[in-house]
Amino acid sequence: MSQLFDPRAFRDTLGQFCSGVVIATGCENSQPAGLAAQSFSSLSLDPPLVLICPAKTSTSWPKIRASRAFCINILGDDQKRVCDVFAKSGIDKFAELNWRLGASGSPIIEDVLAYVDCELDSEYEAGDHTIAVGRVLEARIVDSSREPLLFFRGGYGSFDAFSDA
Ligand SMILES: Cc1cc2nc3c(=O)[nH]c(=O)nc-3n(C[C@H](O)[C@H](O)[C@H](O)COP(=O)(O)O)c2cc1C
Repeated sequence: MSQLFDPRAFRDTLGQFCSGVVIATGCENSQPAGLAAQSFSSLSLDPPLVLICPAKTSTSWPKIRASRAFCINILGDDQKRVCDVFAKSGIDKFAELNWRLGASGSPIIEDVLAYVDCELDSEYEAGDHTIAVGRVLEARIVDSSREPLLFFRGGYGSFDAFSDA
């Protein structure tokens, strides 16, 4: 390990990268499972692939993996409570949630900004996480009138455009 490497500085530096927040969901034996994540990214346009990086300590991901499918639910800035619930371990995260099953058989959470429904294409070891690649079956914008939930420096916020896209 480089002499320069400082684990605290590493985490604080990563915190300078602002990201959206998603809920990765899946359903095994009709039991829904899910976790909050920020490690979501588009990967390939053709074929349509995305990725998410679950921690090896996650108790939900093995259930999602077993279903060979997952759905990425992109949260709006009014859905921090959903994020809080899905960031906890060992609770019934779907107890107070409305959702429906997507084409992959994975839960699509009500009122998200958008979702990306996938088959699990492949998974790669990467330190204390894995890189899970999803082959997209369906991608839909649910509500383009709201702003996204953002995660930055360990806190949450919303998007304030200073120029039109
Ligand atoms: C904003 C935010 C982003 C997160 N990003 C990730 C992530 O990218 N990968 C991951 O495995 N866990 C991530 N987590 C932590 C998981 O949500 C948490 O460990 C998980 O919900 C634990 O539950 P489980 O045991 O049911 O999987 C994040 C949590 C928060 C609040």
